Amino acid sequence: MSKWISKDKLKDHPEITRGEAEDALALCVSGVLKYLDAYGDRFPGPASVQNRYIPGENKGWTTGFYTGQVWLAYENAVDEGDRSRLLHSAEAQVLSFYERIRTLCDVEHHDMGFLYSPSCVAAYKLTGSETGKKAALLAADKLITRFQPVGEFIQAWGEMGAADNYRFIIDCLLNLPLLYWASAETGDPKYREIAEKHIHTAMKYVIREDDSTWHTVFMNSRTGEFDHGATCQGYKDGSAWARGQAWGIYGTAVAYKYTGREEYIGYFRRVAGYFMSHLPDDLCPFWDLTFGNGDEEEEPRDSSSAVIAACGMLQMSEFLDGEEKKQCISLAGKLLKTITDSYRVKDLSLSNGRILHGTYSKRSPYNTCTPEGVDECVLWGDYYYMEALTRLLNPDWNCYW
Ligand code: GLY
Repeated sequence: MSKWISKDKLKDHPEITRGEAEDALALCVSGVLKYLDAYGDRFPGPASVQNRYIPGENKGWTTGFYTGQVWLAYENAVDEGDRSRLLHSAEAQVLSFYERIRTLCDVEHHDMGFLYSPSCVAAYKLTGSETGKKAALLAADKLITRFQPVGEFIQAWGEMGAADNYRFIIDCLLNLPLLYWASAETGDPKYREIAEKHIHTAMKYVIREDDSTWHTVFMNSRTGEFDHGATCQGYKDGSAWARGQAWGIYGTAVAYKYTGREEYIGYFRRVAGYFMSHLPDDLCPFWDLTFGNGDEEEEPRDSSSAVIAACGMLQMSEFLDGEEKKQCISLAGKLLKTITDSYRVKDLSLSNGRILHGTYSKRSPYNTCTPEGVDECVLWGDYYYMEALTRLLNPDWNCYW
């Protein structure tokens, strides 16, 4: 049994065609429209239950990915009536995000970027929404309150300074574009300076010698040095949680985009190389990259990791030249081909999501997560699938991050 995908098989794997990507994105837009009214002023939960999202409140870290899908549908829809419905819905959601940050409802964590970039920054970029701008700036103000000067990082979760939570997590790299945007809009460098400090700390410690990544990194609260790495949602501490590695791909691309530090291109190559060489033959990762060796057929996949990785490849391709640029676009096209052929929702009456077979949090004997959304649609998977298709079809897309 071959260990993960062989280079030859990866080379021979087909890429999505332009026509297939256009059809897939059009179906996503139809899916968003079909279920738009069912949510009213509510939001889908983080993961579906038997492939159906249940409407709930604007809480948790994922609701921005629903508004992001509505904005992407708005950008890609052709019918003016559809566009106007989508605009109306997205604007109402932006108001909900403004109320959420104004009243400080469930914002004591670092996920302000996941919440406010695809919803409120997007609103401001697309329509000039002042409410979106106000909300996103309040969210940026909230995010920088989580900066820990000893160790120079943004604390992910829990009470600030608590010994059992003196850590950052790899996912946070995607929360930082909000801070760069806030500095650009206000002219105040403080947001950017904090983002940069966090990036430098994360880049220093999050990538392991074999190019896999830590999910979470604990820092020493006295010295500010690395204390130890640990997983929360991966299989075990030393394994590579598939989505963490995917956040690392997109995260290093974003880190390079905003800092221009050449060494981050090298980090991107390492993290992406590990991810691509630890995929099963069909290129949709198991939820942890430790699996895929031929003996773990019962383990669930995480389709969301494939589409996050595709977005990261497409983001990085903008800064590369020649063969490497083509290779990044090609790898994204291969990931999108497998998701589109075998993992997406093709019959809109069977699910209100966009892609199937995501895994939010699977409990193992060695990790600490609360189990939820195993082998289900996950809201960010749906969003990044639409983003990846949009990026592939339109390399000039003005991204929300
Ligand atoms: N950021 C949390 C997750 O990826 O599940």
